[in-house]
Amino acid sequence: MIMSNTEQTLSIIKPDAVERNLDSEIKEMFLSTGFKILKEKKIQIEKSEAEVFYKVHETKPFYSDLCAYLSSGPIVVMVLEKENAVSANRELMGATNPKDASDGTIRKKYGISIDKNSVHGSDSIENANIEINFFFKD
Ligand code: CDP
Ligand code: MG
Repeated sequence: MIMSNTEQTLSIIKPDAVERNLDSEIKEMFLSTGFKILKEKKIQIEKSEAEVFYKVHETKPFYSDLCAYLSSGPIVVMVLEKENAVSANRELMGATNPKDASDGTIRKKYGISIDKNSVHGSDSIENANIEINFFFKD
């Protein structure tokens, strides 16, 4: 029996990467890894919206800076689809700190620092659904 496990996940190209015009190159990395980009939009959000999006981190010392940063400039928000998309995207993104990211990952290639690490990706199927609804409720 062939088991298919197609999932969707939310990806964000963060302000540091959009500002450097890296969105096309990063999208190409998703496509060449077998992701479909089902939905996509370039937007800028308010800090108050970033605070809702990153609510899981509200007790962390970096929360306020993180929310200020995500709302500091345009971002590209995408719904990605692939087999095991959540973990496949985390793998392609690389470690949170670009210094620790493996060769071939987006953060290794483009990340500047732990805060300016170029991409966001959902960390579970449950959070992927919440995050997709946050940006693309229709
Ligand atoms: O993005 P990821 O899921 O890999 O990491 P996280 O632990 O969920 O943290 C969310 C974001 O907060 C990271 O992508 C970093 O941009 C930022 N962060 C930070 O600025 N300083 C830290 N010490 C940890 C995370
Ligand atoms: Mg996370």
